[in-house]
Order: sequence, then C-alpha cells, then structure tokens
Amino acid sequence: MVAQASRYHAVYDGWKNDPEGFWREAASALDWIEPPRAILNPSAGAYGRWFPDAVCNTAANCLDRHIAAGRGDQLALIYDSPITNSGSSLTYSDLKREVDLAAHMIRGFGLEKGDRAIIYMPMIPEAVVAMLACARLGIIHSVVFGGFAAHELATRIDDAKPKLILTASCGIEPGRVVAYKPLLDRAIDEAHHKVSHVLLFQRPQAKAEMIAGRDHDWAEGRDRLIAQGAGPVEAVPMSADDPLYVLYTSGTTGKPKGVVRDHAGHMVSLHWSMGAIYGMEAGEVFWAASDVGWVVGHSYIVYAPLLKGCTTLLYEGKPVGTPDPGAFWRVIAEHKVKVLFTAPTAFRAIRKEDPKAEYLAKYNLGGFRALFLAGERADPDTVKWAEDILKVPVIDHWWQTETGWPICGNPLGLGMLPVKHGSPTVPMPGYDVQVLDEAGKPVEAGKMGSIAVKLPLPPGCLPTLWNADDRFRSSYLAEYPGYYNTSDAGYRDAEGYLYIMGRTDDIINVAGHRLSTGGMEEVLASHPAVAECAVIGAKDALKGEVPLGFVVLKAGVNALPGMIERECVGLVRDQIGPVAAFKTAITVNRLPKTRSGKILRGTMKKIADGDPWTMPATIDDPAILEEIARALEGRHSAG
Ligand code: COA
Ligand code: AMP
Repeated sequence: MVAQASRYHAVYDGWKNDPEGFWREAASALDWIEPPRAILNPSAGAYGRWFPDAVCNTAANCLDRHIAAGRGDQLALIYDSPITNSGSSLTYSDLKREVDLAAHMIRGFGLEKGDRAIIYMPMIPEAVVAMLACARLGIIHSVVFGGFAAHELATRIDDAKPKLILTASCGIEPGRVVAYKPLLDRAIDEAHHKVSHVLLFQRPQAKAEMIAGRDHDWAEGRDRLIAQGAGPVEAVPMSADDPLYVLYTSGTTGKPKGVVRDHAGHMVSLHWSMGAIYGMEAGEVFWAASDVGWVVGHSYIVYAPLLKGCTTLLYEGKPVGTPDPGAFWRVIAEHKVKVLFTAPTAFRAIRKEDPKAEYLAKYNLGGFRALFLAGERADPDTVKWAEDILKVPVIDHWWQTETGWPICGNPLGLGMLPVKHGSPTVPMPGYDVQVLDEAGKPVEAGKMGSIAVKLPLPPGCLPTLWNADDRFRSSYLAEYPGYYNTSDAGYRDAEGYLYIMGRTDDIINVAGHRLSTGGMEEVLASHPAVAECAVIGAKDALKGEVPLGFVVLKAGVNALPGMIERECVGLVRDQIGPVAAFKTAITVNRLPKTRSGKILRGTMKKIADGDPWTMPATIDDPAILEEIARALEGRHSAG
C-alpha cells in the first residue's frame, strides 16, 4: 500500500486555531430541527456545553436522514450469531419500522421524554432497536452488560430510577444458556426503586416466566401493533444537551459512575470520527466486535455506523470456539467487512489457538481495509502478529467510556501517520492532551506523568455524571484545574506520539472489560470470615490482566482448607458477575502496609507479575512481603 501524505497535522492545527469553526462544519453534515447558531457556551455546565441552542434527534439522524436520502433499501444491520447458528439482516427501512413499533410499545407504558429505561439484553437486533426507540422518544437509555450479576443491575436501577426495563429471556455463552429473567427478578427485588414495567423478548433457548401485570411480551406487543396498523412515530425534538443515554462504568468504589452522553455533541463527534478516524464511507460494512453493554458497542456498533449510513454488524459469538479461531475471518469475508474494531485480547485468543493463522487461508479477505484495537494496551507483539497475518494497517487507539470516541489514534480517513508499536499515535482534533507532573505542570518529552485533556472536552465527551455533578468535578476536574484527568499515566515522545502505560487508580482491564478492584474488595470484605482484603490486577497472557484477591481471616475462623477462598470466588461471581473473571483468592496472615496503614498494592502487583521489586522504605514490617511472595510462588512459572 502506498502511503498517502497524512492531512492529520493540517486538520489538527485547523481545529486548534478555530475549534468552533471546526465543530460548526462537522455539525453541518447532520439534520437539525433547530440548527446550532452558537457552537459552545463556555460558562454552562461544569466546563461548557456544546451547541447550546440547537434542537435535534439522534435516532432521526441514524435512520430517517438516510431513508430520505435514498438508503432505505440498504442494509443497516447484519446480525451474525454463530452461537445460535442463526442470522438475519435489516435494511434502513426495516430497522426504522422495528424502531417505530418498539417506540409505540414503550410509549404505551406511559414513558415520556426524560424518563429512563434500562436495557438488559444480549447481542440480538432487539437490543439495537430498543436503544434507538428510546432515543427517538427522548427516553434516556441505560444499557447494562449481560455479564453483570443481579446486584450490579440493582445498583444501576437505584441510580437511574427507570420506569421500564427492556430485556430478553436469555443470553448465550459457550456451553451455557444464561437465563436473564431470574437475575432481573432478583435485581428488581433488591432495588429500592420499584420498576413498573418489564418488556421481555422471549428467545427460543430459554422461556422466561412472566409476572402478570408487570411483565409484557415483546413479540405479542409487536404483533398487536401490526394488527392495529400502527404507523411511524415522530422523533421527539431534543435540546442539544438533553441526555441520550447514561452508561455506568467502574469507578474507584463499588458504586459505578453514570456517564452521561448528550444528543448533539455525541452525534456530531461520532459522525465525524467515522470518516476521519475509521476511514468509512456510507454504504460500507463496519464491524465492532464488542457488546452493546460497553461504550464501544454504544458508539461503534450502534450510533456511529448508523449516523454515517454504514451497515453495522452485530456479532453474537466469540473470537474462538464459535466454532473455531477462523470465526472473525469468516464474518469479514461473508459480509464484506471493511473495518473491524475489537480489543487486543480477542487477537491474543485467536493467536493462542491458531498461531500460524491457518484458518485465515480458508477465507477471502479482499477489500478488508484495517483493524482497530482499543479497550486495553495493545501489546506490540500482538499488533505485529496481526499486521503480519492480515497485511492491512493495525491501528491502536486510546479512549474511555467517559470520552465516547478516541482521544488518540492514527486517523485512517485523514491518511495514516507512521505506526509506532506500543503507541496509540497522536491526539485527535478536539483533544489538547498534556502529560502532567504532580504539580500539574506539563513534563518534557519522554517523562512519565498523568495524562490530562485541557478543557473544554470536545463534543461527545461526558458533560457530567448522572445526578452527580459534584462527583464529576471531584473525580475528573479537581486534581488538575483546567484539565480533565484521564486517570491514565504515560508519556509523549519527541514526535508527539503518546504512550499509555496504565491507570493511576484501582481500575483494571480484564479482557478489555473495565473493572474496579475496589468494588471487588467491597464484596470480599462482606464475607463474614474475612477481616481484611486486597485485590490487585495481575498480568495475564490472554486477558491482559486478571484480578487476584488476598484475604486475611478473622481470628478464630476454623474452615476446611480452600473453603473460604472458594466462597470468596463464588461471592464475587454472584455479586459482580462472571465478567469479573475473579478466580483466585489467597489467604495470607497479614497484608503489607505502610506505617500509615496504606496497603502496598503496587508492590504486591510487582511480586505477582514476577517483576523486580524493592522493599518500600515506608513499610511497616518487611517480613510481610516475603510472606506474600511465598503465597504467590509458582504463579509466574505456571504462566
Ligand atoms: N453474559 C453472561 N456472561 C458473560 C457475558 C455475557 N454477555 N460475557 C462474558 N461472560 C462470562 C463468560 O462466559 C465467562 O464466564 P466463565 O467464567 O463461566 O467462563 C466470564 O464472563 C468471563 O468472560 P471473558 O472475560 O470475556 O472471558 P472468556 O474466556 O469468556 O472470553 C475472550 C475471552 C478473549 C474470547 C473474550 O473476552 C473476548 O472476545 N474479548 C474481546 C472482545 C471484547 O469483549 N471487547 C470488549 C470491549 S472492546
Ligand atoms: P473503558 O472505559 O472500558 O473504555 O476503559 C478505558 C481504559 O482502558 C483507559 O482509561 C485505559 O486505561 C484503557 N485503554 C483503552 N484503550 C487503550 C489503549 N489503546 N491503550 C492503552 N490503554 C487503553
């Protein structure tokens, strides 16, 4: 491939010189009920609000705009489900019809603009329909990932206070059907906020028991509306900064943070990113192999591809085992995918099972243009392997649930910059990224520091946390005045490339899933036999990191060997969910602490990872670290 000169520097400088002009032009590609006159109101909200006087509707921009432009018969969504051995597709007109029917049902339960609905669904087309139907009505959706347990769902119900929950009877994981309804019923029981209605899609793999009066069958409601001749539902006009959705993500405690996304800034930035960053044109097939429960799913399975007029791919399967490590190549070849976006862990999983990529030879990937990786650090070894086998650009890019779209990347649509393995390349227009020292001063190239983004954040990033403006300010804006603190640490090289080396808080990344070790510690501490505990993220060859728990038992606890540890593992699975991948709890006599009582998690992590470590000068009792090292013996040799 001949490298085309990148327009990146010109575009980035153009944004820097005239940010409002830049976003005004980006906004002009979309449909507005009231077009934006002002672009930024710097004094509104915590750091300013974008397009303050505009009125729009995101769902209308995802559907009606394309149908009006003649794309009604183009595929909007392809559902490919190797796990159920099925699939289907919907054109833009089909999808609009399904969204209208779902919107009728939702409105029928009495929901109005500004009300919340939780969506707890597997990777089926109804999940996308549910999101867009809420967006059309101005109902704020909050999608909860299916791998979370009842308690996590209950926490979100209490925070979002939904009138309605949209769900399905089950999700399907390799070798097991995950019945959602018992989890949902438990969550509704546990939550203080009482939910009036549940709209449930029955899947053939598991039939859910319905509670009369509260639970309603999706298919029956849909059939009834069709029989009644239900027509289209008008998109509700939304002020630019009305919330489109709230997506909960791990914070530093067990209480998740409700990241708010608005209508206007979100649609403008996502639409811009599809062309400039991902290099996509309307009519092409884009595949984000993630889950609608994560931010990648919100932004790049649902909203961005549809805003751009692309065909999006909804994949209910895994990179390996459904049925083999050739699954991704089959999907790319069969559906003519141009760009795939997934987490590095998926490629590590494929490589582990098929190191020579022999399955790839069975498929024709002609037309496949690029692979984008995010969600965790892309280790250079995996990136090189993917480049070697695919022979297309492999692009690491860095972002967070909070930002909703990439902070740093290598913009395919603007022409790529030279790739440096280990770096997600450079800041995208909209982001003035700085590496700061403890005093908040920018550090020189090559020096590690905290990575922060100069305010205002660009359109599409979170304006606040749901019902928690103070928590928003204290979590993100307080530490470095004038900046958004990403809680990632790293450095910039002499050419301005960023290197993201890890979090500065207790968040860990397990198979691209963001989890809080603090949240897991809260669960372990609730075990009646546990006096104290600590959870760290230890290196893992497949998942990047996995949680490791250390527990100190209360004096006098008398249990069979391994029993409390097994109970602790079960408790985390039960309270947080299988997605926590918490499989190891180790009993120790004491935890290593500083003299002021702070647990030395950083040193414990180094020991667990087999990295060199030194005895911290502030340690209370040096012998404890030797005990921890003994407890972990064999972990690195076992890989
Ligand atoms: N519903 C219910 N359970 C779920 C679930 C869901 N939606 N998603 C995952 N789980 C369960 C898994 O079945 C597994 O359960 P187990 O402990 O009984 O085996 C557990 O949660 C851990 O899941 P995961 O960490 O995904 O591990 P895995 O071994 O099932 O799969 C990978 C590993 C690498 C194949 C998988 O994580 C993957 O495909 N990741 C890449 C794509 C991605 O998810 N990216 C996210 C952000 S871009
Ligand atoms: P999430 O909110 O789940 O998207 O997780 C965001 C976090 O994942 C970031 O704060 C980083 O710690 C990590 N992360 C995401 N993408 C990358 C990347 N490309 N390189 C390094 N870390 C990443």
